[in-house]
Amino acid sequence: PTADAWSLTDAYLTEVLVGHDPALEAALAAQRNAGMPAIEVAPVAGKLLQLLARISGARRVLEIGTLGGYSTIWLARAVGPEGKVVTVEAEAANAAVARASIDAAGVGDRVDIRIGRGADVLPTLVGGFDLVFIDADKESNTIYLDWAAKLGHPGTVIVLDNIGREGEIVRDDSDDSKVIGTRDGLRMLGEDPRFDATALQTVGAKGWDGVALAVVL
Ligand code: DHB
Ligand code: MG
Repeated sequence: PTADAWSLTDAYLTEVLVGHDPALEAALAAQRNAGMPAIEVAPVAGKLLQLLARISGARRVLEIGTLGGYSTIWLARAVGPEGKVVTVEAEAANAAVARASIDAAGVGDRVDIRIGRGADVLPTLVGGFDLVFIDADKESNTIYLDWAAKLGHPGTVIVLDNIGREGEIVRDDSDDSKVIGTRDGLRMLGEDPRFDATALQTVGAKGWDGVALAVVL
């Protein structure tokens, strides 16, 4: 199988299971127009986030790494009208684009965007989050996992993005800071008694990557 076959299969699954979604497509267009990198979650992965939030009955969701708000919209839809998504974004310009797209998607009242670096913003948040999606600078993964445990409760679902990195994560001698940060995060999920975790590799529109899934014990 080739990357092309993965992309075609991903497009097929997206067509069959996700379909067209004007608000999400507009959010992606706005993100591209603003010059942000196309590193948002794939449509099937956005829907996985939404389903995990629904399956777990999450009402309070924390997202670390808003980018253009694409995954934020998926999560905001999942929490329902009485729910809340707090999403942390380091770049004010990204947050402004996300704000407009989230509002245009009709879920603005459920989404609180906090601008700043996670290490600065997370200590200011009130806990009680039911699901935490970590998708920001990989170098800070262990800081984010620590805050996810502190701001969560037993049963909180944690999703950590980008754990495959085209297979680079097996390189224990890597000098790529993103690989090192990803490996550190995975080791923490395996060793820290606050978590029980596994991971799934993925292929598709975003190449070969994956997500770790954990529960706070
Ligand atoms: C990168 C970050 C992401 O969150 C992602 O999904 C893909 C790539 C990156 O920083 O390279
Ligand atoms: Mg990501």
